[in-house]
Amino acid sequence: MARPGTKADRLAKDFAAGQVLFGAEPTRLASSGSSAEASVLTAPSPEELFLENIPASHRRQYGQFFTPRPIAELMCEWLAIRQPATLLDPAVGPGIFVRTLRERGVNGHLTAIDKDPLAVTAFRQSMARQKWLDNLQIHQVDFLRWDSSEKFDAIIANPPYVRHHDLHYGEDIFAKIGQRSGVALSRLTNIYGLFILEICRRLKPGGRAAILVPGEWLNANFGVPLKRHLLQHHLLKHLVYFSHAESVFPDVLTTASLLFVEKSAGGEKVPGKLSGTTPMVLDSERETDGAVKTIFVHSAQSLAPLRETLFAAQPSSLSSSPSPSLTIRTLPHAILLEQGKWNALLEHGPTTLPVGFVYLEELATTRRGIATGANQFFHVSREALRSAELSDDIGRPCVGRAADVEGYRFTLADLEKLEARGKRTRLLHFHDPLTTAARRYVEEGVRLGLPKRYLLASRKPWYAMEARPPSPIWAAVFGRKELRFVWNEAGVQNLTTFHCVYPHALTSLQSQALVACLNCTWMQQLAAEQQRVYGGGLLKYEPRDLLRIPVPDLRHSSNETLNSLVELSDSLSAARGNPPLCHTVQQQLRTAVDQAAREAAANLASS
Ligand SMILES: C[S@@+](CC[C@H](N)C(=O)[O-])C[C@H]1O[C@@H](n2cnc3c(N)ncnc32)[C@H](O)[C@@H]1O
Repeated sequence: MARPGTKADRLAKDFAAGQVLFGAEPTRLASSGSSAEASVLTAPSPEELFLENIPASHRRQYGQFFTPRPIAELMCEWLAIRQPATLLDPAVGPGIFVRTLRERGVNGHLTAIDKDPLAVTAFRQSMARQKWLDNLQIHQVDFLRWDSSEKFDAIIANPPYVRHHDLHYGEDIFAKIGQRSGVALSRLTNIYGLFILEICRRLKPGGRAAILVPGEWLNANFGVPLKRHLLQHHLLKHLVYFSHAESVFPDVLTTASLLFVEKSAGGEKVPGKLSGTTPMVLDSERETDGAVKTIFVHSAQSLAPLRETLFAAQPSSLSSSPSPSLTIRTLPHAILLEQGKWNALLEHGPTTLPVGFVYLEELATTRRGIATGANQFFHVSREALRSAELSDDIGRPCVGRAADVEGYRFTLADLEKLEARGKRTRLLHFHDPLTTAARRYVEEGVRLGLPKRYLLASRKPWYAMEARPPSPIWAAVFGRKELRFVWNEAGVQNLTTFHCVYPHALTSLQSQALVACLNCTWMQQLAAEQQRVYGGGLLKYEPRDLLRIPVPDLRHSSNETLNSLVELSDSLSAARGNPPLCHTVQQQLRTAVDQAAREAAANLASS
C-alpha cells in the first residue's frame, strides 16, 4: 500500500473517489473525420498517463517498466495464432498486452494480476473505457504468492525487474518456488527468474507463453538452473536477445531478452537422469535432442525482419541472417546445455578451445580486489597518512581507481607519480596494539558511524582490513571497448576496481607474457563468452568468469616468444591513444599469440 501523505497515497484516494486518471488507447477513442480526431489521436496512452502521474520512486519499488508497442505486438502474435481460450498476464501494469490481444480479436477468458493497487486501478479504468471488462478477471495480488491452481492456454508477461537485495519476502521464496518446479535456485535469482518458473508451471499442456525479461540472466550464474529447466523440459522454442536494448526500450539501460515458450501437448517432458559429476552433463539422449531458434539482435532499427524470422513457417538453417541487424541460429540443446553463458554463443556460435590453448584456470587463480567498506576513510593520500601521523606500515601502497593506472604495466615510478599528485595511494591496515595516532584515527571512524556500515559491522574489529598478498596481475572489472589486464610490477595492493590474478604455474616472464596475451584484441574476442554485457555496451568480468578465458599454454613457449610478447605489451601501452598504431601493434600481438599457441601445440604433439 502507498504510504500516507505520499503522492501515490493521494492518487490512490483519487481513484477511490471515482476519478478517472487513466485514459484509453487513443485510436479507440477517435471518431473518424471529426475535428477532435487529431487531438484525440495524440492523447496519451495508459502507460504514458501512468508515467506522468505516478512518482518514479513508486514505479521503481514495483519494478515498473512498460513494454513498447512493437514488442508487445510481437509477443501477442505468438499467442494469438492459437486463439487461446484462457490467458494470463501476471504483471499486467496498465495493460498493453491485454489491449493488444483484444485488438487482435483474441477473446479468450483473461486473468490479469498486479501487486500494485495503482497499476490495477490504471488497468481497470482503461479496460472500462474500452468496454472490455467482459471475460476479464482482475486480481490485485502478488503473483509469486497467488493461491490458485489454475493453469492457462497462454501467458504473456513483462515481469518486474527488482534487484535481489530490494526483494523483501519473509519466507524463503527461492526454495519454495524452486521446489514447485524441481529447480535449485540461487538466492541471487532476480524476481523475473521466479516469474519465468511460475509462468512455465502454470501453462497447460500445449500452452504457449511469451516473456520479456532483461538479458543478464543468459550470462549470470543464477540463470544456469533456469536455462537447464527450460531445456530439459523442452519449453524454450525461440530466444531473442537484444544486445543494445536502449534502442528498443527507451529509459532502460540494460540488455533485454524475449522467451517464446511452448509446453508440449503431452505436458512437460520428464528430464532424464543428470550425471552426478557436473551439472551440465546429461546422461539422457532425450534432453539433448531438441533445438532452440536463437536470434541475436545487434541493432533494432526495424523489428520487421525479426517478426518474419520468428514466425517463418520453415525453421531457419543453422546460422542464417535475413538482415545484418540479426544473427539467427538453431542451437541444439546439447550445445546450449554445455555452455553456462549464452551471450557469445548466440552472437558468435559454438566455439571450441583452439589447439595449444588452455583455460586461464590451469595457469592462475583469481579473486576480487580488496573491499574496504569505506574507501574515503581507509584509502588515503600519502599527505593524509602523514598528517594523521600514521606510519608507512599502516598505510600500505594500494591502487584504488582504474583511471590511476594508465597502461598495461604499473611500476614504482607510476606509484611515485600518483603520490606526487596527491592521489589516494595508501590503504590503512591497522594492527593491535594501536598506536596513539592510530587510536585517534579509529575513534574518528567511530564518530562517523562507520562500525555500523554493512561490510564493517561484520569485521572484528570493524577497522581490520582484508589481508591478501598483492597480485602480480590486475584485471579491470569494467571496460567499454576492451577489458584491461595490467602487470603489477610495483607489487602494490588493489581495491575492487581491479580483480586479482595470481599465476600459480608460471615464471615471472611467463606471467608478463600472459598479460600481453590477455590484452590481445583477438584473444578478447575468444574470451567474449565469459563477459557480462551491461547496457550501453559496458563489459564486465567476475573473478570466476576470468578462469574460463582461453589463453595459449605459455608453459611451453620459447623465451624468444615470451620476450617478444612482453615487448609488444609495452609497445601497446605506448600506443594508447593512437588508434592506427594500436591496430598495428595488435596485429603483431596476434602473430605472437599464434606463435605461442603453435609452440604449445607442438609440445603436446611430441609428448
Ligand atoms: C515491468 S512492469 C510490466 C507492466 C506491463 N505488463 C507492461 O508490459 O507494460 C511489471 C508489473 O508487475 C507488477 N508487479 C511487481 N511485482 C509483482 C508481483 N510480485 N506480482 C504481480 N505483479 C507485480 C508491477 O506493479 C508492474 O505493473
